[in-house]
Amino acid sequence: MAPRLSVAILGVVLAILAALTAQAEAGRAFFVFGDSLVDNGNNNYLATTARADSYPYGIDFPTHRPTGRFSNGLNIPDYISQQLGSEFLLPYLNPELNGRRLLDGANFASAGIGILNDTGIQFINIIRMFRQFEYFEEYQRRVGRVIGDERAKELVKGALVLITVGGNDFVNNYYLVPFSARSRQYSLPDYVNLLIVEYRKILLRLYELGARRVLVTGTGPLGCVPAELAMRGSTGGQCSAELQRAAALYNPKLFQMIKGLNSQLGSNVFVAVNTQQMHIDFISNPRAYGFETSKVACCGQGPYNGLGLCTVASNLCSNRDAYAFWDAFHPSQKANGIIVKQMFSGTTQYMYPMNLTTILQLDSKT
Ligand SMILES: *[C@@H]1O[C@H](CO)[C@@H](O)[C@H](O)[C@H]1NC(C)=O
Ligand SMILES: *[C@@H]1O[C@H](CO)[C@@H](O)[C@H](O)[C@H]1NC(C)=O
Repeated sequence: MAPRLSVAILGVVLAILAALTAQAEAGRAFFVFGDSLVDNGNNNYLATTARADSYPYGIDFPTHRPTGRFSNGLNIPDYISQQLGSEFLLPYLNPELNGRRLLDGANFASAGIGILNDTGIQFINIIRMFRQFEYFEEYQRRVGRVIGDERAKELVKGALVLITVGGNDFVNNYYLVPFSARSRQYSLPDYVNLLIVEYRKILLRLYELGARRVLVTGTGPLGCVPAELAMRGSTGGQCSAELQRAAALYNPKLFQMIKGLNSQLGSNVFVAVNTQQMHIDFISNPRAYGFETSKVACCGQGPYNGLGLCTVASNLCSNRDAYAFWDAFHPSQKANGIIVKQMFSGTTQYMYPMNLTTILQLDSKT
């Protein structure tokens, strides 16, 4: 019995050593929260209509198969992982996410969700913000079982976090139907204030859960996506004035809220990512970024390919890199790459108070 027992103990010791080495090699963990702009496949595991798991989604992904990413290829988290020198994150619900791979981090995002729980109710079974955080707590307990609770805490503290949420609170709630419940309840400025109050609670919760470096994206120019050009834009491809007004009210308030949180915490935990400006750049001058169009989606139907879903029956452009938008709402792989480049090297107009290059340099010293 004794030799067997010591073999078992040796096995455990080796497993622990392997886990510790893996963590040292793995570098910085990365966590993602939010909606379809950053979901990399959680919704594949859910009974929901908000999904991107069929052709032609993923047509330019390394596997050329749909993965659940709302892109023809890579999305924003993928490009960040590449820059960090890590593998692409797995969706939290993917059963392959265990053992060593847990230490790289996880993606908790779910297409269709918003800041508010009533956003995206038409998608039925999606992982709302509070539930993404419950999964994050569960994740931390699981990592604790692999490397111990103290090291798990350190892993989370040292991690990079990205949160992208808020667009759906407009397009899949306030403006989903004329006279929506929220639009009868709140004027637009009051609704924006509600979102900011609730988002602030979400960011503080993330801080409580251990996050110390969090990229917080604003919304893009909501009124200029192909879906809105098709449904609400005036003739001649002008952006929808109402949704542009929403983004113009929301983004500066989000920025102020983030600044306020950092000064309250006495540390630059939250970094404001000016996605609005990044998108405006290629909407106002698509050719400077190598795009032929920033109005027409590559995949879709109707005006601007902006109506309905991107499916096997849709129009599909042949030169995907010439389009800023892949489908009616989501940037193309090419656009996602440009956005992440800005995150790494943009000035304070794009990344406040500092860009990712600076963050990585700073954090490697502490
Ligand atoms: C969303 O629902 C959860 C669970 O019911 C609740 O704890 C949370 O406070 C709700 N959030 C908002 C903004 O209402
Ligand atoms: C952002 O990143 C680049 C490096 O790519 C750096 O030169 C620049 O000074 C950084 N910060 C700001 C505020 O522009």
